[in-house]
Amino acid sequence: MESHKLHTVRFIPIGTSVDVPQGTTLLEAARQANVPITSDCGGDGACGKCRVVICEGQVDGGSTEAFTREEIRRGYVLACEGRVREPVMVAVLREARLGSSATIGDEGAEIFSGAAEVAFSRDEIDPLVTKHHLVLPPPSLDDNAGDLDRLTTALRKRQPGEFQMGLKQIQALPGLLRNNDWDVTATAAYRGSLTEIVQLEAGDMTAGNLGLVVDLGTTTVVAHLVDLRSGETLGATARYNGQVNSGADVIHRILVAEAEGVQGLQQAAVNDINALTEELMQRYHVSRNEITVAAIAGNTTMLHLLLGLDPSSIRREPYVGASYSPPAFRATEIGLRLAPRALLYCLPMISSFIGADIVAGVMATGMDESESVNLMIDIGTNGEVVIGNREWLMCASASAGPAFEGSQTRNGMRAQPGAIDHVKILDKERLLSFSTVGSAPPRGICGSGYIDLLAELLRTRLMDRSGLLDLTSGSSRIRGENQNDCEYVVIRAGESGAEKDIVITQTDIRSMLLAKAAIYTAARLLLQSLGLTFDDVDRLYVAGAFGNYLGLENAIIIGLLPDMPLDRIRSAGNTAIAGTKLALLSKKQYERARDVAAKMTYLELGTAREFMDEFVSAQFFPHTDVEQFPTAAAALKG
Ligand code: FES
Repeated sequence: MESHKLHTVRFIPIGTSVDVPQGTTLLEAARQANVPITSDCGGDGACGKCRVVICEGQVDGGSTEAFTREEIRRGYVLACEGRVREPVMVAVLREARLGSSATIGDEGAEIFSGAAEVAFSRDEIDPLVTKHHLVLPPPSLDDNAGDLDRLTTALRKRQPGEFQMGLKQIQALPGLLRNNDWDVTATAAYRGSLTEIVQLEAGDMTAGNLGLVVDLGTTTVVAHLVDLRSGETLGATARYNGQVNSGADVIHRILVAEAEGVQGLQQAAVNDINALTEELMQRYHVSRNEITVAAIAGNTTMLHLLLGLDPSSIRREPYVGASYSPPAFRATEIGLRLAPRALLYCLPMISSFIGADIVAGVMATGMDESESVNLMIDIGTNGEVVIGNREWLMCASASAGPAFEGSQTRNGMRAQPGAIDHVKILDKERLLSFSTVGSAPPRGICGSGYIDLLAELLRTRLMDRSGLLDLTSGSSRIRGENQNDCEYVVIRAGESGAEKDIVITQTDIRSMLLAKAAIYTAARLLLQSLGLTFDDVDRLYVAGAFGNYLGLENAIIIGLLPDMPLDRIRSAGNTAIAGTKLALLSKKQYERARDVAAKMTYLELGTAREFMDEFVSAQFFPHTDVEQFPTAAAALKG
């Protein structure tokens, strides 16, 4: 029962405190204190990832099911269940803390920011924001054009078209020109048929014109700093999305926005981008004033939250967002800390479930310019599929859930140090090899590790094709009373420095089975709706940073990817960043993004009659219909 009495909650080792009313959950207190705690289920008490320890004081509530007797004795509670009843000191465990909005670290940043580099020749570079150094002829009795006309006439020689300028800038213009011998730098920003003169500075300031490219993902936020004159990327960094306290997937985030308003989630996204900007500025010794523009891609919910748009209609029939093609805004309007008058361009979205990240992906892979039919599968927090060529594009979204991102599984984690990313099983008792991100002691399993693990369990027949672990195998690694709660122990506590047993449970396998079935079904149905099969696909692009680390053969063996020849499959990396960079560096490419969005048709799979049949058939490794997976079937037989 909540009361108005306030109590202090102190979080260690972060060292932050917050005063909250009695009855507030620790998760809510953490949210208010800006302490990121992993909460994949958004506070439903279902994921068990928000474990904290009460070091001083006591809390009300909190189920004991998620803990061992020893853990209960030591004060473990789920942050979403423990309610404040007196001042408390709370230790946020490493497992709940890492995987949160902390900076990802070098290995993680490399994984998430690994974007396909955009190939641009210098003369193709025509960025959204350009700086022009101008030395204007001073007025005379023979040349008495007004100051603004004088400026735009000079500018028009550099870039044709019409110009607009804000009143405050015009007010400052006469003084600036006369005090600086008519020697100024104008920053010109693309606004479709108009060009806005966003800023005027004294002298030649063209050397510092940088842009920020951001992929605002549900799980990770990636930023690249780009030199707008050369097109070169100065550097990249990434962090986990600070909205993590509000759930792992977009639906949980929308539910939180509905309950509490959009501001908290918006602020979290803005804070992430500001923190990444700050890091890049320090690392590359650039000043805020040099960053004149940001171009951002993300899924539709993420972009709504960033812009402070109400996302609630995204999850309700008829699933319509507030805006799919927002115009450029002043970045400060949402609190981004770039140059004072910097602009923020969001790439266009397609629908509630297909966002700007997919538009960017299409551009990065060049699908929209290809004569042949290509397919792109983006395995992110959700699964999105696009098929098409230069004539047409069609897309669908698969409610795959974030299982391959390490959520909703017992020892799942994101690809950060200690995550098992590859594994090979020798026989029923022994592993042949495994590797972890950063070669750190194993702490959990990330998506590519799960894919290897499933394929290896199939190969060694420790798991059957319906995904059931073989309790009768005689392997000491498979343990459990019955089929429903059994698990396979990948690494035992103490092995290779592991602090605890790292397992894949029967329930984890079920989540993976559903996720891979959803993604494969979406791709197959999309093709079927066009009368095509995978044989008609010239090239399959696997998008998402995850794609770079995925064992393609194993992804086929488990039926996540179609059984196509490997030389027709490409890991495309972070295509959201690559496509957004194209748009930032070229007005033509920015317009191309709009064309891609306009051209793309969205197929709502939920309404497709065949969906359920196909989805159920795909809930087998690799599939109930092995004819669709001849190579995988042969490999498993062998
Ligand atoms: S169990 Fe607490 S957030 Fe999921």
